[in-house]
Amino acid sequence: MKILAIETSCDDTAVAILEKKGESIKVLASNVSSQISLHNEYGGVFPMMAKREHVKNLVPVLQKTLSDAQLHLVKKEKNIFSGISKNIKLAKIKKVLRREEVLLQNIVNEIGIDTSLDIEYIAVTVGPGLPPTLWAGINFAKALSVIWNKKIIPVNHMHGHIVSVLSTDGTFFNTKNVELPALSLLVSGGHTEIVLVKDWGTYKILGKTKDDAVGEAFDKVARILSLPYPGGPEISKLADSHRQHHESQNIFPRPMSHTNDYDFSYSGLKTSVLYYTKENDTSNEDTRKLVAREFEDAAIDILVLKTKKAIGAFDPKCLIVGGGVSANKHLRERLKNEIDIPTHLPLHNLTGDNAVMIGVSAFMNTKKAVSWSSKALHAQGNLSI
Ligand code: KG4
Ligand code: ZN
Repeated sequence: MKILAIETSCDDTAVAILEKKGESIKVLASNVSSQISLHNEYGGVFPMMAKREHVKNLVPVLQKTLSDAQLHLVKKEKNIFSGISKNIKLAKIKKVLRREEVLLQNIVNEIGIDTSLDIEYIAVTVGPGLPPTLWAGINFAKALSVIWNKKIIPVNHMHGHIVSVLSTDGTFFNTKNVELPALSLLVSGGHTEIVLVKDWGTYKILGKTKDDAVGEAFDKVARILSLPYPGGPEISKLADSHRQHHESQNIFPRPMSHTNDYDFSYSGLKTSVLYYTKENDTSNEDTRKLVAREFEDAAIDILVLKTKKAIGAFDPKCLIVGGGVSANKHLRERLKNEIDIPTHLPLHNLTGDNAVMIGVSAFMNTKKAVSWSSKALHAQGNLSI
């Protein structure tokens, strides 16, 4: 069984094709077109600008992925009903893409209304994320669903980040690789959550951020230090080079570290950094390195602290880490050294947003497949796990 997966929840246009045989899911092809260079100029992601990029990129990224997977669009043979069927499909697609002229033209010209594809389902992220960019992916999935007559599986982006750890080689995924119940630490640009994974499909949020997400804090501190977007990798590089030569000075606070819960708060930490940079000259490279390191120490310290606390209280079989911030070297090292249950981290190319994780999640949720006109297919910016 094959699934075509689409992800457009933020600033990456991603498409993947996966195949399940028995219990094992194999990635046949995966492509991610990043908008980083565009958003870099503006210091962050503007939803409408990101949406326009998705609309431009979706068809080319799909074509590349089909070609990488050696899957071919087959032109349907003409019969006396072909003309009528083509017109009905076109009317439906025009309705779905009434606000997406570019996407409509690309689909009609490059995919064709009378083609078929050897897949069983189309999977698409419906949330959480930026509603305009989510809509681009959802409407694209709907149009393809009409053309190929395939059902759509709506996928939760955060579930995707959790299942990213189910592969040790990036090609094969299997739920057997992880023992449940698990505790999951989800750390991205929009989320900071500790989730209990009782079963695949049964989740309980134990705690989350009360304001900024940890990735967002990395991005904001990077902007304070005039570093490019996204800030995480930039801060991390400076912090690492400082850490090699100096001891930690604990300059910044660890908000909510003593509260009796699993919640987080990052906006106060960011404000402390802001005040520090107003009183100290950050045009100096050494000061920027110090600030990056001290911020990273504080930000990661709280994640590790609350994760350990939740492990102590819930006694899970393992820890799963997911989301863009799971690429952070200091976080990975601290978890490796301090967590005494098996810890599953995604491979580096699966830490950020991608469509492979959306496809893997979809295989676990085939029962949720719906027709293109279903109400389940709408963008849910704040969708919870
Ligand atoms: O999961 P993701 O790609 O997108 C969302 O779903 O939000 O996460 C993006 C976030 C950004 O805030 C980025 O700065 C952060 O992940 N990030 C990092 C690192 N790489 C990416 N944060 C800290 N250290 C990194 N190495
Ligand atoms: Zn993400």
